[in-house]
Amino acid sequence: MKKCLVSPSMLASDFANIQRDVEMLNQSEADYIHIDIMDGVFVPNISFGFPVTEAIARHAKKPLDFHLMIQDADPYLEQCKASGAAIVSVHYEACNHLHRTISAIKDLGMKAGVALNPHTPVELLSEILSDIDLVLIMSVNPGFGGQKFIPHTFSKVEKLASMAANVNPDLLIEVDGGVTSENAGELVQKGANLLVAGSFVFKSENPAETISALKNV
Ligand code: DX5
Ligand code: ZN
Repeated sequence: MKKCLVSPSMLASDFANIQRDVEMLNQSEADYIHIDIMDGVFVPNISFGFPVTEAIARHAKKPLDFHLMIQDADPYLEQCKASGAAIVSVHYEACNHLHRTISAIKDLGMKAGVALNPHTPVELLSEILSDIDLVLIMSVNPGFGGQKFIPHTFSKVEKLASMAANVNPDLLIEVDGGVTSENAGELVQKGANLLVAGSFVFKSENPAETISALKNV
């Protein structure tokens, strides 16, 4: 059994009980807390903004893993830092000057990630792979929780893991969307080492146990 890191997504939490859900995650084996920010432009949905992430940060004892589904993230990176972000991932498809954005995230003392939509080839990252800490492979089209996992993700993870083996062996390979105990084992076997799970965790009877189960797939 290979261990992986788990980042439960607050998007699937009960927004009327954010403090309760964050405290549950604090007590669980979760490694990170995944924060999905959507702008209604890059993705056809709006989630929540910095007033909410600051409230999450006030209670969270786990590092926050920000996933920015927004067009042009540059003006918001400092606010991510102020909101307690340990990781900030920006979308390849939403950045005109990816290298500049990645450098700005790292200069603020955060880990820098690049997220890829399902149709975006991992090969496009070859020239930036050694500069980043994380690649977030979307296994659904971003914008909504509770969607069905796209099986083609397995081969993307495998390809990325072999690219990273040479140039960035410590790369975090994060998979996000429709992750369950059905696909987690194969994802980790192909090279994923950080799994996001929203609905699968929060809709389960015992979220803390579900997190532990995912860590040991
Ligand atoms: C989707 C978000 C995901 C989402 C995952 O756009 O990026 O992080 O919360 O939710 P599930 O695990 O329910 O697919
Ligand atoms: Zn996400």
